Amino acid sequence: LREKYLGRIKEAGDEAGLEAVRLEAVGKKGEVALLMRGLGKMTPEERQVEGPRLNALKDEINAAIAARKASLEDAALEARLAEEWLDVTLPTRPRRQGTIHPVSQVTEEVTAIFADMGFSVAEGPQIETDWYNFDALNIPGHHPARAEMDTFYMARAEGDDRPPHVLRTHTSPVQIRAMEERGAPLRVICPGRVYRADYDQTHTPMFHQVEGMAIDRVISMANLKWCLEEFCRAFFEVDGIELRFRASHFPFTEPSAEVDIRCSWEGGTLRLGEGDDWLEILGSGMMHPKVLKAGGIDPSQWQGFAFGMGIDRIAMLKYGIPDLRAFFDSDLRWLRHYGFGA
Ligand code: PHE
Repeated sequence: LREKYLGRIKEAGDEAGLEAVRLEAVGKKGEVALLMRGLGKMTPEERQVEGPRLNALKDEINAAIAARKASLEDAALEARLAEEWLDVTLPTRPRRQGTIHPVSQVTEEVTAIFADMGFSVAEGPQIETDWYNFDALNIPGHHPARAEMDTFYMARAEGDDRPPHVLRTHTSPVQIRAMEERGAPLRVICPGRVYRADYDQTHTPMFHQVEGMAIDRVISMANLKWCLEEFCRAFFEVDGIELRFRASHFPFTEPSAEVDIRCSWEGGTLRLGEGDDWLEILGSGMMHPKVLKAGGIDPSQWQGFAFGMGIDRIAMLKYGIPDLRAFFDSDLRWLRHYGFGA
């Protein structure tokens, strides 16, 4: 019996097989149990000999089963390890990574350049009251600039007595908010989304501007000019960048100037810093006293300059992107082509 079971235990190839042997040998109805039941019919002398022998056999079989079980488990683990190992030195499968949108990239670049000149960043809401967007900027209700800007007005329910709201048409309302929050002296840029009902190759109903302003005791157009020239040299990274300050009019600046950048369009490719064409990139001027006052700053003590620049516009120029609308089409091929880094 001993030989038979020890042999079968050794041969058992898996845990189920081993369990079957165990039941057959030392289970409740197993062969050893059967023999033990036979002890009752023996004489006391026989029992004294056979009892311990059967118990010892039972113990030996149990021990052999436990040992076999342990070695089966070891083997199973070894097999799994052999099968499931991972070569961490293999290259990964190629995976598409996202890119940084050109508008985000350019906003970062602009912010970094002005940060070097001591400007910090201020932000304001995209849904603005028409007071911040217009009145505080010296654009009263009847002013033609309101119509020119193709403003999106927020619908109002009847009986709604909140002030009228618009989608801001420029980042200039952040001038007012920054003055209110921070006071003078002040040096901030305000990048963000703006909205106008307009759509063609160079206009989308949502686009991006960056506002800039500097307020101090003594500040002039000369400071504005230096600041913008310095910015354009750093941003466009082209030698011989040339700006043209063209007299203009904005209700919130006096005097006002629009700024163009020298370029050529030879053979359909845009070159900056050469040629006889001029491309408008921003509006600017000395802050109107009424605007300073609306921001809670005394115009007899302080003066400032301000400018507003199209972020998408300068991104198109720097990276040679021909159609503004592509910025907002979410075409993955376009984004992979014009996007930055990963
Ligand atoms: N807000 C003007 C625009 O959107 C730009 C501007 C800003 C002009 C600041 C002068 C000063 O066209």
